[in-house]
Amino acid sequence: MNQDELKKQVAEAAIEYVETGTVIGVGTGSTANYFIDALAKIKGRIDGTVASSVASAERLKSHGIPVMDLNEVGELSVYIDGADETNDYLQLIKGGGGALTREKIVAGASHKFVCICDDSKLVKILGRFPLPIEVIPMAQSFVARELVKHGGRPELRQGFTTDNGNIILDVKDLEILEPCRLESQLNDIPGVVTVGLFANRPADVLLLGTSNGVETRTAPD
Ligand code: 5RP
Repeated sequence: MNQDELKKQVAEAAIEYVETGTVIGVGTGSTANYFIDALAKIKGRIDGTVASSVASAERLKSHGIPVMDLNEVGELSVYIDGADETNDYLQLIKGGGGALTREKIVAGASHKFVCICDDSKLVKILGRFPLPIEVIPMAQSFVARELVKHGGRPELRQGFTTDNGNIILDVKDLEILEPCRLESQLNDIPGVVTVGLFANRPADVLLLGTSNGVETRTAPD
């Protein structure tokens, strides 16, 4: 199976986590897109969705799936989204598609976070994928200097503006040995909106697409 087939396989497996009569959170990216397409087939079972990006909202609407404002709904039953990397503790790097801030908000508002990805995303130590950080534009140089002090090599994502009107710095060369600590430290830099590390609120369930089928993992205690 190629990577796209693995993504489709896990996206379809995630339908099992959709609870009838609830509002669910929907992520962003190619794996999340496969999930949206699968969700269209059972759309009558849910009350609606909250999307983590404008792009996902548009795809959901194109299928006739209701998209709601997070401020108008309570807790979401489940959030289903992909990732750029995951470790064995279901701590993630996200933001390859630039939607990390809304992804972190919707994940935080959800009772359960189900991460869907192909097995190329599984690593022992996070950091092979450059860490995306959303930054207020006026703070770009200051934040970049602070990131260098943490051992990173920040690069501006060229020609990209987030749904929130901000920039993304992609930080290379970080070997993330203490993900929770680093997430908190980087969040504390003035001008940082969101760090693409999802360690303090990891996924609850990981559906990993492998050539032998979908592997289901839960975070160790
Ligand atoms: C978007 C994300 C995506 O989940 C991540 O980039 C994975 O994308 P894909 O499913 O296309 O591999 O965090 O901001």
